[in-house]
Amino acid sequence: MNHRLTKCFGRVILRPLAEKDVELLRLLRNRERKWFIYSEEIDQKTQQLWFKKYLKTEDDYMFSVSEVKRPDLIIGMVGLYNFNNMEKTCEFGRIVIDQDTRTEKGLGFDTTVCACKIGFEILGMQRIILEVFMDNIRAMKTYQKTGFITYAKVNGMLKMELITDKFIIKHSL
Ligand SMILES: CC(C)(COP(=O)(O)OP(=O)(O)OC[C@H]1O[C@@H](n2cnc3c(N)ncnc32)[C@H](O)[C@@H]1OP(=O)(O)O)[C@@H](O)C(=O)NCCC(=O)NCCS
Repeated sequence: MNHRLTKCFGRVILRPLAEKDVELLRLLRNRERKWFIYSEEIDQKTQQLWFKKYLKTEDDYMFSVSEVKRPDLIIGMVGLYNFNNMEKTCEFGRIVIDQDTRTEKGLGFDTTVCACKIGFEILGMQRIILEVFMDNIRAMKTYQKTGFITYAKVNGMLKMELITDKFIIKHSL
């Protein structure tokens, strides 16, 4: 989706994913692909086709992630998608933070809170869900710290949810 949403939280800034950044993010995602349900290696051409298709997909918001103190260097990405506007739910995912270029730990947490703030405050969602492999300790810790709780366990994955009221209490909207 060709959107214009930008938001800062803590030490990160989320901006609309730009074409110039998709190659860097392809390399990063390939390196961490074992943590994603679709875990095939993605080549350059497939990534470019994906980006073209992404721009035409309504209700699919991808963001690049940078540190506030170094806004020109992209260190990761995150997305909000699969919106259900009747039930006011959407899915959080595709998060990656480059462990080599980040300057501090815990930026995944800032990124997760920032994306959820966009989901709740700007896009009007009431519930954000995600799926994570049970052995993905770094991601699970990040999501738990944000306030996500597990509502189901299926095929080695946790299904987690974050409800707007709980989020308001934890992170004061
Ligand atoms: C998930 C991710 C975004 C988190 O990034 P980050 O904030 O830079 O991660 P950190 O290294 O600060 O670790 C997050 C937490 O896990 C903990 N952690 C890190 N490595 C750990 C290990 N080997 N064992 C136990 N805990 C560990 C950290 O201490 C931290 O917890 P804390 O906040 O309580 O201190 C990042 O790890 C990533 O990009 N992973 C690959 C892609 C991925 O898994 N995406 C999620 C798909 S569902």
